[in-house]
Amino acid sequence: MRNIAAGNWKMNLNHAEASALLDELTKNSATFGNTEVVVAPPAIYLSEFSAKLKGHHGLKLAAQNVHQKPSGAYTGEISAGMLAALGISFCLVGHSERRQFFGETDESVAQKVNVLLENGISPIICVGEMLDERYADRHFEVVKTQVNAAIAGVTAAEKIIIAYEPVWAIGTGQTATTEQAQEMHAFIRQLLVEKFGNQANEVPILYGGSCNAQNAAELFAQQDVNGGLVGGASLKAPDFLTIIKSF
Ligand code: PGA
Repeated sequence: MRNIAAGNWKMNLNHAEASALLDELTKNSATFGNTEVVVAPPAIYLSEFSAKLKGHHGLKLAAQNVHQKPSGAYTGEISAGMLAALGISFCLVGHSERRQFFGETDESVAQKVNVLLENGISPIICVGEMLDERYADRHFEVVKTQVNAAIAGVTAAEKIIIAYEPVWAIGTGQTATTEQAQEMHAFIRQLLVEKFGNQANEVPILYGGSCNAQNAAELFAQQDVNGGLVGGASLKAPDFLTIIKSF
């Protein structure tokens, strides 16, 4: 199984700061071992960073978002074709912040997954329940709906990645316990098996939500936790490097 450490920089770091962080990571790429390392900087840096990383195999780029249409009058948006032309390998889809603040729905998530796959880009499909949904014991039902909607149009499992990110754990410092993470990851694995059969065992399922240099090793040791999608802790090179080495 692949091991993936992905950093979601969100709307952080000015150009100088982002470049310095990228340089710090590439400088250390010999220490990545078998871990696939991905960073998702703000879209405005993708073109330059992609050129910088050309021929550099240790570090890959993800976009944080994509539009579902191939082109057209959608001011402010970026298409999957544009990302593919830059050699971008991954794209986050359905992050809870996009669902919460930008009207992302299960339907648009599914469309984005499909358009990314058509362009050879791996979608990192983010799912996860809100705190009140967990308290109401609805977390499995919520995640099932999100996962099944996102993969409805997917025919081959090989390019997709799932990230389980309980919304109550994102940016709060309150990580899911290893039991909570493993339990949900196993549940997601079962949903994937129902859809893809044996191929499901090749789909990396990442954990996200206050994953940091202290708790990554314990989380990644769980059978169905194949890596992390890391926000805050990916903004500091030493912390992210520790996470990368936590497998
Ligand atoms: P966090 O964010 O690690 O800062 O909690 C994770 C994410 O939103 O992907």
